[in-house]
Amino acid sequence: MQKRLMISFIIIMCLTLTLSYMLFLNIYSSHIVKIIKNELYKDADNLFLFLSEHDDVEGYLNSYVNETGNNISVVYDGKQINSSQGVSKEIINNLTNRLKESDKSDLIRISGNERIIAVGESSPDRAISVFISASYDKYAGFGVDEWTYLIVIFTLCLAVSILLWYRFIFHITRSIKNITRVVSDITDGNYEELIHYEYDDEMGELVKAFNLMANKLKSIMEEMHDRNSKLEAVLKGIVNGVIAIDDHGKIILINEAAKKILNLSNTDVIDKYLLEVIRNYRLSQELDSYIHKKTKNNVDFEINLPQNKTLKVYINPIVNSELANKTIGTVIVFNDITELKRLERIRSDFVANVSHELRTPLTSIMGFVETLKEGNIKDEATTERFLDIISLETERLTRLINDILTLSEIENVREDVKKDVIGIKDLIEDITYILDSKAKEKNVNILIKIDPEDLKIIANRDRIHQLFINLIDNGIKYNKENGTVIINVWKEKCNINISVKDTGIGIPREHIPRIFERFYRVDKGRSRKLGGTGLGLAIVKHIIESMNGDIVINSEPGVGTEFLITLNGVCDNLT
Ligand SMILES: Nc1ncnc2c1ncn2[C@@H]1O[C@H](COP(=O)(O)OP(=O)(O)OP(=O)(O)O)[C@@H](O)[C@H]1O
Ligand SMILES: [Mg+2]
Repeated sequence: MQKRLMISFIIIMCLTLTLSYMLFLNIYSSHIVKIIKNELYKDADNLFLFLSEHDDVEGYLNSYVNETGNNISVVYDGKQINSSQGVSKEIINNLTNRLKESDKSDLIRISGNERIIAVGESSPDRAISVFISASYDKYAGFGVDEWTYLIVIFTLCLAVSILLWYRFIFHITRSIKNITRVVSDITDGNYEELIHYEYDDEMGELVKAFNLMANKLKSIMEEMHDRNSKLEAVLKGIVNGVIAIDDHGKIILINEAAKKILNLSNTDVIDKYLLEVIRNYRLSQELDSYIHKKTKNNVDFEINLPQNKTLKVYINPIVNSELANKTIGTVIVFNDITELKRLERIRSDFVANVSHELRTPLTSIMGFVETLKEGNIKDEATTERFLDIISLETERLTRLINDILTLSEIENVREDVKKDVIGIKDLIEDITYILDSKAKEKNVNILIKIDPEDLKIIANRDRIHQLFINLIDNGIKYNKENGTVIINVWKEKCNINISVKDTGIGIPREHIPRIFERFYRVDKGRSRKLGGTGLGLAIVKHIIESMNGDIVINSEPGVGTEFLITLNGVCDNLT
């Protein structure tokens, strides 16, 4: 652009200077003609003066020609006296005709390359007429000096104009370049740069307006960025999944929680159709009917995903208040209620199980009490047996209620504050003493290994007691005749490891994940026959959780089972 402007300017400048030169020549030549004519008239007047006092016309004419180089002719008494060359006949005739009307007359003729200026003058009595002609070039012709002078002036004018013009163009193009640079900076998100322009002209106005616009744009972008950050922070902080879709069902926004719930952490789903991402018939139907419905009330429903997840979904419209409340999309908010559902199921299972477990011994007790009350049983041995059963069922009921109470107590007091120093050896020996008759019934051998032997831990004695008794009881109950239960306790830094291993029936692999659920039993009939309620391991798990410990089961059906427990930070520093 700078180059094009420069070329155009040089052309305009050359044209202007040429036109100026021509105009100057025109004015100059008319001026010179006027001067020449005046000179020639003066010469004519001098000749009249001379003739009034002298007679030597020819001598005067010759000296005049020699002096001036002009041609001169005089007509008087019908005679024409010429200088050496004289004025041309055609000019004399022309001027003579004109002198009839006036006593002075002049003309300009071109002869070859020469311009001739001629004047004619008659004496007041019209007796004498003088004609003088002169070459214009002799007076006005430009010499080398004049031409040099003209060329120098011309070149100087051109150079100064080009310089000034260049400065002007440079300023304009520099400002345009600056604007272009700042525009591209703005496109790249850099709003800091402003344009500097030192003149207070139209370009200055443009630059000012541009800077103002850039500033405004900057503050708008900052505001938008601020809003976006807040929105992002809010969306990030929300534990619910949030997905916004446009009118075509394409995802325009998704928060981290949604990605986590839908296992999409490393997938870019923006611009994808929602139903491509969540393939669910119910969701697609609800969304379809919602989008095509006129009244947009909020909708909520539950869906099940293939990855065994249950979501509670809420659909809300995105309304643009600036566009006359036009709906421009839909927000889908969802909660992962899988855990809630599981807990709900456990709770209702628990209630059903408790009722069932309570009803069974109660029905049995009631039945025997009724029979005894009727008084039909006269046989003492039978009565004794009935009373034994009633006592057994009552015991069972008591144990069941105690277990439920223990569970609920552990659940309610998550952080155990009661700390006792417990000698592990004594504790286990007490337990084996309690369970001795049960072990003997099956001829199960109990082996105990504690390292160090005098190992002491700091914890709630009742809970640790309960933990060991439940595990050792299972080890005996689900063991084979002549089997073994090996109890191993060892210290590792400040952690205590407990292993209760038996050589019993083992637990099939598919049952292991559910073994800690309340009332869950692998073989219900067998467990019931053995007097179990199915709460033992649930209590163990809760005790371990309350102590921030871990439990692992290694089991092989027909070979045996090992419960491996780690209790963290329970060591007594004295041992
Ligand atoms: N050592 C084990 N070997 C084989 N199966 C076991 C063992 N321990 C537990 N189980 C299985 O796990 C189920 C749940 O055990 P849990 O101790 O919770 O209940 P329970 O022993 O049946 O009753 P409770 O302990 O309340 O008297 C048992 O019914 C049994 O099927
Ligand atoms: Mg048990």
